[in-house]
Amino acid sequence: MLIEDEADRLVMVPGPTPVHREILNAIAEPTIWHSSDAMAKIVQVCQEGIRAAAGAQRGTIFIFGGSGTLAQEAAVVNLVGPDDLLLVVSHGYFGDRFAAIAQAHGIPVERLVASWGSAITPELLRSRLQAGGVRAVTITQVDTSTGTAAAVGELVSVCKEHDALVIVDSVCALGGMPVEMDRHHIDVVLTGAQKALGVPPGLSILAVSSEGLQRRRELARIPAYYADLQNWEASMENPQKYFSTHAVNLFYALARGLDFVRDEGLERRFTRHQVLSTAFRAGMSALGFQPLTEASALAPTLSVLAAPVALEVEKFRLALADAGVVAAPNMGEFKGKGLRFGHMGNITESDILQCVAASEIAIEAAGGRVEIGSGVAAARRAVRPAAAAV
Ligand SMILES: Cc1ncc(COP(=O)(O)O)c(C=O)c1O
Repeated sequence: MLIEDEADRLVMVPGPTPVHREILNAIAEPTIWHSSDAMAKIVQVCQEGIRAAAGAQRGTIFIFGGSGTLAQEAAVVNLVGPDDLLLVVSHGYFGDRFAAIAQAHGIPVERLVASWGSAITPELLRSRLQAGGVRAVTITQVDTSTGTAAAVGELVSVCKEHDALVIVDSVCALGGMPVEMDRHHIDVVLTGAQKALGVPPGLSILAVSSEGLQRRRELARIPAYYADLQNWEASMENPQKYFSTHAVNLFYALARGLDFVRDEGLERRFTRHQVLSTAFRAGMSALGFQPLTEASALAPTLSVLAAPVALEVEKFRLALADAGVVAAPNMGEFKGKGLRFGHMGNITESDILQCVAASEIAIEAAGGRVEIGSGVAAARRAVRPAAAAV
């Protein structure tokens, strides 16, 4: 195996997230016939789990082999045509990806861009939509490049005042924070498997409203085949019907991952994400790492942090890996300024404390000054104020 050193490390990048052993074991079950009755039931169980996590009792759930990007592309090409205008609400790199997808398909696109780390306000969106011409809007619930969490409910309401279709990229959110598709009348909620659902990468997941599917029909021909939701519709209605081979073993993993979500309960799961993210940031802040994201838009699923000025970021990242924890470099405008840490999916308090402890060791190894234990104490105080006091 080529992964030996890497496999021992705690993966604290913002996706893929650590996968629980039981979810990994599910993948090792025998690969069954993709059109069998048993497989159909597994697909349906996954659809129900996504329905619950996305607040999408009314939508159609599509799950197929792919990634978050394919889900983004499918959402755009199925809902937006070459005579429409797509407005991309962009909070960073992954918001901008929607614009790149539209351009690749010859769809007119305009971006409403936030400065990195800050969020687009409903007022700003309203003033653009009042000017007219927009058919559909994309909103990235949490942009993984900036750590910005959008005020999805409010932004979607503004879109609906103007009859725009709304696509929400929930890749870095679904399973770790509320996404309420039906309540907010969102037309597409999309994600991948590898982030807050805690499942290995390899699945594209979309919940699509009946208005969204109606729009697909109105468009007649679209420049897609595998990503054409109309081709998948019958197979998602009855998974024994073939369109393309289901990613059998990944569905096993998703089903097991969704068991974890159901067993924990959505509210408890969201609270865990909130508590652990606050604790993580408290611990890292005690070590001199501060969020690059504005305080009102901090996401519970990841932290995009600036390293203390005296610390050489790449040296620290490598020392952190030596200490057993993997973090991701910052991107785009934040490149070189610090690191991104994921804390979503089935992450635990001990993962958070391990990451903060490893950061203390890595600061020392990278030549920085640190009081060993100070970050862990701050994180622990934030998770359990009473326990840390005794
Ligand atoms: C918010 C967001 N959208 C889309 C994507 C693209 O997903 P994938 O890498 O699975 O194609 C990512 C990946 O990190 C993401 O964070």
